[in-house]
Amino acid sequence: MKGQEWYQATEVAEEYDEKRFSRGGRYIDRREKRAVLDALGRVDGDRVLEIACGTGRFTVMLAERGADITGLDISGPMLQEGRQKAAQAGVADTIEFMRGDAGRLPFPDNHFDSVFAMRFFHLADSPATYLREMARVSKQQVFFDTFNRFSTRSLYNWLLPMGSRLYGSREVRALVSGAGLTLADADHDFIAPYGFYREVPDWIARPFRNADVTLGDTPLGEPLASVSYWDVRL
Ligand SMILES: C[S@@+](CC[C@H](N)C(=O)[O-])C[C@H]1O[C@@H](n2cnc3c(N)ncnc32)[C@H](O)[C@@H]1O
Repeated sequence: MKGQEWYQATEVAEEYDEKRFSRGGRYIDRREKRAVLDALGRVDGDRVLEIACGTGRFTVMLAERGADITGLDISGPMLQEGRQKAAQAGVADTIEFMRGDAGRLPFPDNHFDSVFAMRFFHLADSPATYLREMARVSKQQVFFDTFNRFSTRSLYNWLLPMGSRLYGSREVRALVSGAGLTLADADHDFIAPYGFYREVPDWIARPFRNADVTLGDTPLGEPLASVSYWDVRL
């Protein structure tokens, strides 16, 4: 698993949000949160599991919307950031943060209504194993994102400290059906990659993001997108 050790460092965890989601990175944070909300819909009272919850960006957001949510991550320092965020948001009592390995989930079959993972599959050496495990503990829905092989992401992927696994659409569709799941919806975005947005100030990011969204709405949007969001059902 790429990055399993990388995210154990306190310094990495403390800087995680600031490095990725300030400046132009705000457009990424907003879009990812919308992707999760669109896919999960109303979560009030639902039992939800977030795999690789990291600093709790989505965990806290869903707790605020009434979900009965568990956030699981292998890194203690990342979970610590999540606990702080939950306390600041006043939802610490309604979230269970749990240290654990996504490859061996400590839950019975069909335990959750929905199970999702954001920014996790690019780290996975054996995605089929993780997807099967997510499907096992979910009653009805699994949601996740991937970074795409034939996209601007591939231009700088080799520069990243641990690289990322990039996926083709056919590969994801095969993974989904291999796990006994059915693809309900897929959304594709970010022709300019995340790595660009996080490095530039808002006044540069904004016009790029507008152009990105405009181009994304044309037939070129899907083939050029660097990120895909996959909503699958059992
Ligand atoms: C890129 S971060 C994403 C965090 C969060 N999902 C987000 O989007 O902000 C990847 C996360 O995966 C976690 N991780 C890596 N391998 C894992 C594993 N085998 N089981 C659970 N979590 C894992 C890391 O500790 C890290 O918090």
